[in-house]
Amino acid sequence: MTIVVDRLLADLEALAAVGDTGDGGNCRLALTDEDAGGRELVTGWMRELGLDVRVDRIGNVVGTRAGTEPGLAEVMTGSHIDTVRTGGRYDGTLGVLAGLEVCRALDDAGIRTRHPLAVAFFTDEEGSRFAPDMLGSLVYAGGLDLEGALGAVGIDGALLGDELERIGWAGDAAVPGPAPHAYVELHIEQGPVLEEAGRVIGAVTGVQGILWQELVLTGQSNHAGTTPMRLRHDAGLVAAATVTEVRRIVASAGEPAVGTVGRLRLHPDLTNVVAATATLTIDLRHTDAAELAGLEAAITAAVDAAAEAEGVTVDRRDLARFEPVVFDPAIIDLVERVATEYGHDVLRMPSGAGHDAQMIARLCPAGMVFVPSVRGISHNPAEHTDPADLEAGARVLHDVLLELAGAVPS
Ligand code: GLV
Ligand code: MN
Ligand code: MN
Repeated sequence: MTIVVDRLLADLEALAAVGDTGDGGNCRLALTDEDAGGRELVTGWMRELGLDVRVDRIGNVVGTRAGTEPGLAEVMTGSHIDTVRTGGRYDGTLGVLAGLEVCRALDDAGIRTRHPLAVAFFTDEEGSRFAPDMLGSLVYAGGLDLEGALGAVGIDGALLGDELERIGWAGDAAVPGPAPHAYVELHIEQGPVLEEAGRVIGAVTGVQGILWQELVLTGQSNHAGTTPMRLRHDAGLVAAATVTEVRRIVASAGEPAVGTVGRLRLHPDLTNVVAATATLTIDLRHTDAAELAGLEAAITAAVDAAAEAEGVTVDRRDLARFEPVVFDPAIIDLVERVATEYGHDVLRMPSGAGHDAQMIARLCPAGMVFVPSVRGISHNPAEHTDPADLEAGARVLHDVLLELAGAVPS
């Protein structure tokens, strides 16, 4: 017996019912009641599988299937079950639920492993409510201290530590967590590359560098009818310039550079008042750290020039700053070999999205398996991956984990 895709699909559907947005999508922003509902469901499945469940102080959950040799570190898989506000049903959930299906398949086949096999879901991977993204796995890996993480303030003004307590998921397992023996995560690609290349499996080579900044632009509010254009200090104008400069500078750098202004709020946000302040975010990514730094400098200079011309001040705050990550060559080779044995023509590719694997890579050899996203759409209710591709990815994950954990002959 191996992966049974109908069980995986049933679990994906059951989890998608929690925080269902009614349009095919999901909203389980980190540490909301919906996130708590998802946690209950998935942890219940872990317990049904006989996994030993631990919850750490930042709310990461790890379910472990015992190994046969005492003292060996866990081979870990997993991902996240929180979503962006307008999320789909596969981002993150696939990696967690496929991990559980791997455990089920091993149980069916009566296979034990030398190393324990752990399935994890990490708190607040999306960073949509509390920055930075990959917060839980970053804390697990020791890249952010617990106090700092608990003190993160959400876009709704809530404190992360309060919300973690409120929903009852502040556990007692220590952070940083124990280093796994290896970590491999299955995830949807969330972009168009595999589909365009006609491939089913991507062996992920690494994750591009990520910079998130919040800008607060401060001008002066004034009457829209009486203030001559020459006397304005319009924060809205500089916000608009930021949007267009990010697009211009990043597009002229060419692929794989990407830049986004995804949040923009004007104050007082009224038809007949010149905007006093604008609060906006920049999400900037590149596979090369030096290129990323160059883009950041160019955007900073362009925004500062626009602000100066308008008599507006600029305050910047980093929300996330992560170097590009290169995955372990032996894991990349293993993913490619296993997928090739299943008859897949594998594409080696970097990840455009951030993932928990990039944080756990600080602790142990790590890698990822990608499956295609239909039309490359993600962070959108229309996010979809064909069941056959989900099955293919889960089978590759199964064999990769089994090889890393060491099957014990029965
Ligand atoms: C996180 O998932 C990101 O890539 O934004
Ligand atoms: Mn994800
Ligand atoms: Mn995501």
